[in-house]
Amino acid sequence: MLRRLLLRAPTSYRQASHTYYFAPQLSARVPPPAAHSLSITRFLCSSSSSQVPNGTSVEQVEDDVNLSASPPAATISIDRSGLYNSPEHSHEPSPDSELIKHLKSIIKFRGGPISVAEYMEEVLTNPKAGFYINRDVFGAEGDFITSPEVSQMFGEMIGVWAMCLWEQMGQPNKVNLVELGPGRGTLMADLLRGASKFKHFVQSLNIHMVECSPTLQKLQYSNLKCEEENNTDGTVDKKTISLLAGAPVTWHAALEQVPSGVPTIIIAHEFYDALPVHQFQKASHGWCEKMVDLAEDSTFRFVLSPQPTPATLYLMKRCKWAATEELAKLDQIEVCPKSMEFTQTIAKRISSDGGGALIIDYGLNAVISDSLQAIRKHKFVNILDDPGSADLSAYVDFASIRRSAEEVSGDVSVHGPITQSQLLGALGINFRVEALLQNCTDEQAESLRTGYWRLVGEGEAPFWEGPEEQVPIGMGTRYLAMAIVNKRQGVPVPF
Ligand SMILES: C[S@@+](CC[C@H](N)C(=O)[O-])C[C@H]1O[C@@H](n2cnc3c(N)ncnc32)[C@H](O)[C@@H]1O
Repeated sequence: MLRRLLLRAPTSYRQASHTYYFAPQLSARVPPPAAHSLSITRFLCSSSSSQVPNGTSVEQVEDDVNLSASPPAATISIDRSGLYNSPEHSHEPSPDSELIKHLKSIIKFRGGPISVAEYMEEVLTNPKAGFYINRDVFGAEGDFITSPEVSQMFGEMIGVWAMCLWEQMGQPNKVNLVELGPGRGTLMADLLRGASKFKHFVQSLNIHMVECSPTLQKLQYSNLKCEEENNTDGTVDKKTISLLAGAPVTWHAALEQVPSGVPTIIIAHEFYDALPVHQFQKASHGWCEKMVDLAEDSTFRFVLSPQPTPATLYLMKRCKWAATEELAKLDQIEVCPKSMEFTQTIAKRISSDGGGALIIDYGLNAVISDSLQAIRKHKFVNILDDPGSADLSAYVDFASIRRSAEEVSGDVSVHGPITQSQLLGALGINFRVEALLQNCTDEQAESLRTGYWRLVGEGEAPFWEGPEEQVPIGMGTRYLAMAIVNKRQGVPVPF
């Protein structure tokens, strides 16, 4: 089922995004030729019924310590008898990349395996060679596609949410609008274009992009149509302004660097799923942490830690938040300390400065079992295969986000999760798509309809008449939305 979903994943493209909010015209961003490319969203890792292990080869972990020796690649037997003069040395191992050398050196230097979380963090965000650091990984030419890249309507609806919260905050004159992990900056660009007519709102904005990748920061700068402007206060420093809304934009490597003391609206779309997870497996002698080690042939392999690791403290914390019956069903558990820490930083900030945060991601309102997955060029691959060349992501544990926020502050309230379909529906996506459909070409209408389905639909689009392998698959119920707000703001729309 997993493979089938993957192969049937559609290519869908963003609709023209130079329209103004509630303006029904579409400008002509022509969809790129779609016929032969597959674009997958990262949620497709799961079947509809359960948490599904994916690229992890479970056989590689045995119920004992340091037992796994098999390399990750599957064996394929080839009949070479009909080949003329077949090359004798066709399986030369490729030289190790910088990141692989680095990972191996950490394991050797430590004299033992590293946690899956440390592996994931290095693979994604190692400052020299991490997956996100040096390239654009999104879209048909990249490795996967996300909702803001599917349709301009996504960013526009998040803009509606932000404006509603700003109203509930009493329309403050200054607001920090923070996006965590903004990718190409598409969500923020569509939000600003959509909101640009609401002058009082956009004039209040100071935009803060929290992004670890210098390459993506540059892309965001360009997509937000940024320019340098002289400061009006007489200082020599220049400030960066997005011409989409005339709002100042600043980049930060961490949320803590965003200046405090100003009411804050935080958006985190597909950010939490990139945070490193620790994996635990039930063994005969209790829960053991799954680690990444080097086999004798110098390939990566999974092993189980023989004794409790520091991350066991987080496992214990997470288990305390779960019901005994929930835990009894599981023989693997993922915990994400970084998600807990980020949530607490967000909750503290909102508690002291006012405002709220919207978190949208794929995940569950429950303990996550085994969800870590690797995607390269729109295909699932083994987690240990050529690290740094594939995206790694894991399901988001929304129940843990709620508990983390509530634990750190009594001044915030947590709402949801609700489905993405409920969120976007309540924010008016149906009206928006109708308005856009009023004035567009047939090709744009097709793209709008498939984009709409992918954002709010569930499963394969019933209206699809195109090639079977490109049928749009809805992510409306697989993505969830949760809000954390300062209690002063009341209940955020539409929770
Ligand atoms: C899956 S992408 C999502 C991008 C975007 N939100 C979207 O929906 O298209 C994850 C983003 O988070 C950034 N990121 C990952 N880990 C980060 C970290 N620890 N700090 C800051 N940014 C991070 C990545 O560089 C990337 O921009």
